[in-house]
Amino acid sequence: MGPEDLRHILQELPPERREELLVGLETPDDAAVYRLGGDLALVQTLDFFTPIVDDPYAFGQIAAANALSDIYAMGGRPITAMNILCWPCELGNEAAVRILQGGADKVREAGAAVVGGHTVEDREPKYGLAVAGLVEPDGMLTVGGARPGDILVLTKPLGTGILATALKGDFIEAEGMAEAIGGMCLLNAGASRAAREAGARACTDVTGFGLVGHLLNMLADREIGCVVETGKVPFYPRVMEMAEVGMVPAGAYNNRAFYGDRVSAEGVDELLTLALCDPQTSGGLLLAVPPEAEGMMMKRLGAMNPPGAWPIGRFVRRGAAPLELRP
Ligand code: CO
Ligand code: CO
Ligand code: CO
Repeated sequence: MGPEDLRHILQELPPERREELLVGLETPDDAAVYRLGGDLALVQTLDFFTPIVDDPYAFGQIAAANALSDIYAMGGRPITAMNILCWPCELGNEAAVRILQGGADKVREAGAAVVGGHTVEDREPKYGLAVAGLVEPDGMLTVGGARPGDILVLTKPLGTGILATALKGDFIEAEGMAEAIGGMCLLNAGASRAAREAGARACTDVTGFGLVGHLLNMLADREIGCVVETGKVPFYPRVMEMAEVGMVPAGAYNNRAFYGDRVSAEGVDELLTLALCDPQTSGGLLLAVPPEAEGMMMKRLGAMNPPGAWPIGRFVRRGAAPLELRP
């Protein structure tokens, strides 16, 4: 079964309808949101995966930053997290403990606490967390809601799937992708705060479906389309070099095939189009920012070192294809 077969399995479940459930399975949002009463709602999400770097502590940090990101993508603040660890006993306890330490340190940096978890024996290591957060329903950021004229802003460079593939294939060393590892460890907390202050109308984070797939999720409204200027899209160092020697993961090809003619990419290099479909781990936020707030967003995040915001396109009235990639 290919990854495309798994994309919609949750839609096979009967819809859950209750007044308190503000965001459930009906939309491709990053996390579920459940009203607790008054001005407060609970945000819940879960993510876990196999190691993408060799250093266990860094892997723990990345997995936690990735899991926390779905709370930030909803405009929430994380409060508690639970570990999920699958571990082959022959690898010994030491590396497992380093992974958990990396995760716990990152959760603490986010102002939340690890409060429990569950471990199972498995042939392949996997780690991640279930995270709970809080959000005021009025301040919630959702995947839908972009309007024509809004600026599309991305808050981290792309290419972690390609670099992780190159690392597995010994085409690159961890030192050669230090910037990407640093980027994956970076919390989306600051980007989420800036998005709320800038009055962002829609938000999601870039993970397994790649930039193109998560952007298509923002375009569920039939009236809305998006134009991306591919020359403005930032990549981590050495990503296109690794793509050129064949380090594009199968997931990027699967994504590209799945999106089909919802994406027009006339005149855009096919390898670049594939790189824009590269599955990301702990990617940045993708925001629809009202044009009058673009300056503030760039001042807050674009001026950081390394920068944390790139305006890469514009939401428009939908044309022939929902998403148009331009050279
Ligand atoms: Co997400
Ligand atoms: Co997720
Ligand atoms: Co248990």
